[in-house]
Amino acid sequence: MWVLEVGEQIAGYAAAPETTPGVLSVGMAIQRTARGQGGGRALLGAVQEHARTSGAHKISLEVWTDNVRAIALYAAAGFQVEGLRRDHYRRRDGRLRSTLIMAWRATDAQGRSAVRG
Ligand SMILES: CC(C)(COP(=O)(O)OP(=O)(O)OC[C@H]1O[C@@H](n2cnc3c(N)ncnc32)[C@H](O)[C@@H]1OP(=O)(O)O)[C@@H](O)C(=O)NCCC(=O)NCCS
Repeated sequence: MWVLEVGEQIAGYAAAPETTPGVLSVGMAIQRTARGQGGGRALLGAVQEHARTSGAHKISLEVWTDNVRAIALYAAAGFQVEGLRRDHYRRRDGRLRSTLIMAWRATDAQGRSAVRG
């Protein structure tokens, strides 16, 4: 687990348990007021660095198809779409929602820095 600190406050986190041997499943969130300042990129970079150093071959995640901000972050960090779970989840109001499965593979990232900038 990684935490993002802004001042003395915790403003976000990322967790990446190894759900399949060599595969980290990442989840992350930044407090609304702290978004758009590079924190998400920094946390994701830390997870990618951990994947490299721990020998994980893949980082995987699931993201709502309408989460434009998160999809942009993952794509910019080298994640690729591996699948679409169409109408997989039902909301309380009955509407169905879809997700994308995205993944970053260590073999695709040879020589690339985990953290941009
Ligand atoms: C998704 C989330 C983690 C991104 O964190 P963040 O700190 O706001 O992102 P950053 O400031 O590090 O931005 C990194 C990249 O995200 C994308 N991004 C950020 N804000 C964006 C916006 N308003 N619109 C589109 N893309 C955006 C860009 O690609 C950006 O890179 P750039 O600055 O080089 O253009 C954050 O918005 C969040 O916590 N959202 C709610 C929870 C969530 O969706 N978690 C992910 C579930 S899978």
